[in-house]
Amino acid sequence: MRDTSTLVSEQPDIPGVPAAPAPAPHRRAHTSARDLERYAALFAQRTRVMRSSAMRDLMEITARPEVISLAGGLPDTSTFPPESFAAQMTRIAQESSAEALQYGPTEGFARTRECIGEVMAAEGMHPDPDDIIVTTGGQQAIDLVAKTLVDPGDVVVCEAPTYPGAVPVFCSYEADTRQVEMDSDGMRVDLLEELLEELAAEGRRPKFIYTVPTFQNPAGVTLSAERRRRLVEIARERELLVVEDNPYGLLRYQGEPVETLYALDGGDYVLYVGTFSKILSPGIRLGWLCAPPPVMEKVVLGKQASDLCSSTLTQYFVDEYFGEGQWGAYIESLIGVYRARRDAMLESLERHFPEQATWTAPAGGLFVWATLPDYFDTTDLLARALRENVAFVPGAAAYADGRGTGSMRLNFSGSNEDEIREGIRRIGKVVREQVDLFETLTGEHELPAPADESERGDVVPFRRDR
Ligand SMILES: Cc1ncc(COP(=O)(O)O)c(C=O)c1O
Repeated sequence: MRDTSTLVSEQPDIPGVPAAPAPAPHRRAHTSARDLERYAALFAQRTRVMRSSAMRDLMEITARPEVISLAGGLPDTSTFPPESFAAQMTRIAQESSAEALQYGPTEGFARTRECIGEVMAAEGMHPDPDDIIVTTGGQQAIDLVAKTLVDPGDVVVCEAPTYPGAVPVFCSYEADTRQVEMDSDGMRVDLLEELLEELAAEGRRPKFIYTVPTFQNPAGVTLSAERRRRLVEIARERELLVVEDNPYGLLRYQGEPVETLYALDGGDYVLYVGTFSKILSPGIRLGWLCAPPPVMEKVVLGKQASDLCSSTLTQYFVDEYFGEGQWGAYIESLIGVYRARRDAMLESLERHFPEQATWTAPAGGLFVWATLPDYFDTTDLLARALRENVAFVPGAAAYADGRGTGSMRLNFSGSNEDEIREGIRRIGKVVREQVDLFETLTGEHELPAPADESERGDVVPFRRDR
């Protein structure tokens, strides 16, 4: 892609605007307000509501070696044996070089879709291979669903809080995003029904309900079996689409699996988003979407316009990897590693966070959601935390409307146990400092978190699981 800093200096002939000085060839010029004005008239309307992904913004800072990052959602790719990776890639180079370096079908290779079928079968789902499209990560699957279904102003319903990476997608398509509160059993389906009634009274029907029902990102909670059944019933009764995003279902550290929405529904009203990112590698950028044929037809057109096809090279890698038949064992090894890290995080929270804080205790996945007293703004708190060389995702990133300021998402997969303990100690320190300051300034002693979450203005309905 062309560097826009050079583009600016090459346009001296805009009336009334002197040419910007040419940047030194070895340095990128900073974009001034005036430079931005030159482009502003060209931007599409939708850019006004586009939002940055909070995690991408943080990545630059958290990449510094001295920073302990509990911010990302990074799986620990160092657990993947390098010698297997080398052998698999060598085999591809020796046996399938020309095909692996070529374009592939938009829907993905049939063999890759068989591998996807194996992964889904492990969670009791058996989609028709024609209902599967390989995508560039689960992220592209969400984007393609929104691209296919959402016109500006259309309602999209999701959880409160929702996956922070979905918020910029819904914003890009100018959706009217409505968020339904959760508790420790996932989305409050009774509140969803109330919302649907309200919308129906206005003559509106959501384009889809987006949910991460299992080990939710960011909250770590799981939708109960009863609510799953009801959600699928609601979808059928009202002919609504549900998008089930399930990157973490196989990363269970305790308890019994719960049936997926897709399995309960059979794929009529539930679209399913999956990914290899958390069970193999996010670097290969491969995920998938399952959708019934009429939706799939449009999704394929949308994907052709976006990127023609997902990486053939990494599809070959997936085929090689699954061919060895060890993928289940690798996930078992990840479960062992992440369970210990989750436990280290929960113990450290107990030790270092003040009495006023609450947090979730996830049975799987990669995240804990912590909630602080109302007077906290975790976006400000992050600046203090970064001074202590530790990072988390501020809760506001998980809301489309600025709520969530009292909460934070903490990741336990990307750091080892010692780092997690030290990271939580450092965050605990800045949290306690803030509590002390509040109490000194107000003379008040904040009561422990309310027992009834409806007492809070903020929508963060999780109790401390002690
Ligand atoms: C709920 C959820 N959906 C989708 C994604 C996107 O993942 P990817 O594009 O790497 O498959 C993530 C990544 O963290 C996620 O947590």
